[in-house]
Amino acid sequence: MEKEAIAKAWVWEKAKDIPSWLTPSKDVYYLSHKWKEEGKTSFMDFGTGLGRHAIYFASEGFEVKAFDLSPEAVETLKKRRGALPIEVKLSDMHHVDYPDECVDALLAYHVVSHTNRKGIDLVVGEIYRLLKPQGEFFLDLCAKDGWMFTSSGYPKLDEDTVISQEEGPEYGVPHLCVNLEDIKAIFKGFSLLSVEKIISYDEAGKEKYRHYWILGKKE
Ligand SMILES: C[S@@+](CC[C@H](N)C(=O)[O-])C[C@H]1O[C@@H](n2cnc3c(N)ncnc32)[C@H](O)[C@@H]1O
Repeated sequence: MEKEAIAKAWVWEKAKDIPSWLTPSKDVYYLSHKWKEEGKTSFMDFGTGLGRHAIYFASEGFEVKAFDLSPEAVETLKKRRGALPIEVKLSDMHHVDYPDECVDALLAYHVVSHTNRKGIDLVVGEIYRLLKPQGEFFLDLCAKDGWMFTSSGYPKLDEDTVISQEEGPEYGVPHLCVNLEDIKAIFKGFSLLSVEKIISYDEAGKEKYRHYWILGKKE
């Protein structure tokens, strides 16, 4: 197994104009409603990319903190945020440059799989540190029975991690893949409120990816 956490930012230059990275995902409409009902007011966009979710939560009235490892992502969000209450900085999810217990809710959308087995424990430790007591997170991890892990032939970094060879922004980026047992072990310090497995297909019916979506709480 790798002894160190592996980090590699997306190359956003290769994906910047894809509209889906500028438009909020459907999950966040539910999450902002739920978290507002619960009285949550502060939110972190963990690995913000071009900031689609930071902007959405800020426009819904949350105080937002965001970060990404990609300088291009951070600069783009700085330009896009206008007068919205969004703090954004360059940071690595393995050692996040924000204080302890600084947010009520945290979203890491297609982000935390971009590490290796050693790194995920650091990342989950950071999520625990950043959340206030009773704080919640929502995030996804790649599933071990998806094509990327089972049949892509991509090189492996450790027994659970492949390195994407797909041309585009993710070339060379690690993808940690998990199963249900791994999830229970990785998130043992949290209460798991829901774990769902989603398979996405393209318009031709070809499988795009399999992810676990996890909603958890710091008690
Ligand atoms: C698939 S994009 C998702 C961006 C955003 N969450 C969204 O849904 O639009 C993954 C993002 O994670 C960032 N990332 C990858 N590894 C990271 C790390 N170690 N620390 C911080 N950000 C990282 C990438 O630079 C990229 O912006």
